[in-house]
Amino acid sequence: MQLTQNHSVSLRLTAVAVLALTAGLAGAQDVQTVRIAHAGPTSGGIAHIGKDTENGVRMAIDEINTQGIVIGGKKIKFELAAEDDAGDPRQATAVAQKLCDSKVAGVVGHLQSGTTIPASSVYNKCDLPHITVAATNPDVTKRGYATTFRLIADDNALGAALAVHASDKLKLKTVAVIDDRTAYGQGLANVFKATARQKGMQVVAEEFTTDKATDFMAILTNIKSKKPDAVFYGGLDSQAGPMLRQMDQLGMANVKFFGGDGLCTEKLGALASKAPTLKNVTCATGGASVEKMQGGAAWKKKYDARFPGQFQIYSPYAYDATFVLVDAMKRAKSVDPVVYAPFIGKTKLKGITANIAFTPKGELTVPAVTLYAFKNNVRAEMN
Ligand code: ALA
Repeated sequence: MQLTQNHSVSLRLTAVAVLALTAGLAGAQDVQTVRIAHAGPTSGGIAHIGKDTENGVRMAIDEINTQGIVIGGKKIKFELAAEDDAGDPRQATAVAQKLCDSKVAGVVGHLQSGTTIPASSVYNKCDLPHITVAATNPDVTKRGYATTFRLIADDNALGAALAVHASDKLKLKTVAVIDDRTAYGQGLANVFKATARQKGMQVVAEEFTTDKATDFMAILTNIKSKKPDAVFYGGLDSQAGPMLRQMDQLGMANVKFFGGDGLCTEKLGALASKAPTLKNVTCATGGASVEKMQGGAAWKKKYDARFPGQFQIYSPYAYDATFVLVDAMKRAKSVDPVVYAPFIGKTKLKGITANIAFTPKGELTVPAVTLYAFKNNVRAEMN
């Protein structure tokens, strides 16, 4: 008797539990989880730049999730799939394949030209759209993939702006050019050299290194003997920092120093150990400075509160890229990449970074270029 009573109580409890569980499941089924990936180097020498863009995507996803987005009649909860390509082309293609296979809805990435170019072919094969907010080699969009978009200016714009500044503004006559032999460094150096020569500047030395090197004494000693007015470096801040230190050690105190967005970071001052040669730096990024963006100051305040000391360059662009993907999904009424990808090309979105619209090749219609200098070891926009 005792047993039976207990049994019936337990049966009633089970029924209640099943009802509660079913109700819970019905609620859960209304919400569809959609993953958006960030792919970039979050380990290795430029992990700080990769973390910065990953932070931008994270911030956007969290904000979008507060908006109660409904797509195709379903409530959507976005989730970040954070992938590290370690700045390595082969790891980047492996990451791209993994993101294709695991059916994420879209990708913000990759960060470097050397990783983005091979990864974009993988994304194209599996119809997965990706937006790079940092890879600047013109070849990124040259193949005309319908799945590739870029939210910043390319190296044709950056390299030319730097060479024009060296020649027309600073009246420099001679330059030594170093590059790190990556798709980015080499491509940027080539554009710089071509424009500098058109402007009548003489390239007095050409040297090469790698994106892992830290000792540049031999190539700098060779360059010093040619007495150039300036050094141009096509590469990243992880090399430019030690290079500036070593130029200081070699007494190259008055040699101007030029480079693109890969070295134009908030961290360059620290990587150069605040060497006096920092005052010689002019560098270019492929967009407006955060200070000049519509709503940029308020955005930066939010970013700094959440990720103190982590801002580098392109996090606002990663933030906007995430909104671009979601905006296209909303207009397409679908989170299926095959369905919504064509809607990315028709974007008309007022972002933090710019009013965003794309050319048929997936380039921003009106990309900006900003030149920076270092004042008291801190990166500051040039006027
Ligand atoms: N703009 C750099 C590149 O394309 C970071 O690799």
